[in-house]
Amino acid sequence: MTARPPIDGETRIYGILGHPVRHSLSPAMHNAAFEALGLNAVYLAFPVAPERLPEALAGLAAAEVLGLNLTVPHKTAVIPLLSELTPEARAIGAVNTIRHTPAGWVGTNTDGMGFMGALESDLHWSASGKQVLLLGAGGSARAVGWSLLAAGIERLVIANRTPKRAETLARDLAANPGGAVETLDLAQVPGAEPHLLVNTTTVGMGDGQSPVALAPIGVREAVVDIIYAPPSTPLLAQAKTLGLAHANGMGMLLHQGVTAFHFWTGKKPPVEIMRAALEAGLSKRES
Ligand code: ATR
Repeated sequence: MTARPPIDGETRIYGILGHPVRHSLSPAMHNAAFEALGLNAVYLAFPVAPERLPEALAGLAAAEVLGLNLTVPHKTAVIPLLSELTPEARAIGAVNTIRHTPAGWVGTNTDGMGFMGALESDLHWSASGKQVLLLGAGGSARAVGWSLLAAGIERLVIANRTPKRAETLARDLAANPGGAVETLDLAQVPGAEPHLLVNTTTVGMGDGQSPVALAPIGVREAVVDIIYAPPSTPLLAQAKTLGLAHANGMGMLLHQGVTAFHFWTGKKPPVEIMRAALEAGLSKRES
């Protein structure tokens, strides 16, 4: 491994804006990548209160910070502050990664690409002709749903606690070319028999709950829970018992970072080093 050059006048700055943000695993992941490639760059966490986002972005642009990630609560609020959006950011309606240009910030969304990257590398899952049951209708569901349709699934079925949000998401996603998009009442998911089930709700994030009883749904191939802390959820435990292929959200977290790193630097990201840094960061946080 090459060591990162010492911090000096040439050091370029990247970072993440969130509120809160101190728990973020992204600094560990991106600094490990900079170090592995010998790039003279650092990645820092900046706590920015919602009302100060415009000020923070203007200041960081003026100081020629080259790239930023955005997390809760900034992912949609940032959009009017950008000079350009990539097609995926526009389609998803949220931005998690921005790049500095002389004309202003260019925003993209790497969560969707990250989800598909994880699905392909962790589960070797192929999308063509498949049916997917998506649980949840928040920002993560938007990115996951968009990426599955862009990857060529045949049918996306969205089920959410608040059916109205599922309907809004279905309508927005159906505006893009791709497979059919439908909604289903959560009470009607038994018997849905999707090839893949994806949980994007926060149920299972430390509450010991599962968003659905898995066995009656009749999943044919795989289950993904985008939660990564805890590393296994009650939903994933059921998938394991049923002998289904399954994955947690670690792969999505890694691959959204991998995609962002490439968007900023144009360099081939050191994926395994980034994965190891995330895993080390997570186990440090848990201990
Ligand atoms: P994110 O941006 O991470 O997707 P979000 O926009 O807050 O977060 O969305 C959280 C998702 O989890 C929503 O689909 C939410 O359902 P509602 O739209 O009905 O709020 C779902 N969710 C959160 N708590 C839940 C619970 N106890 N039972 C079922 N769904 C829940």
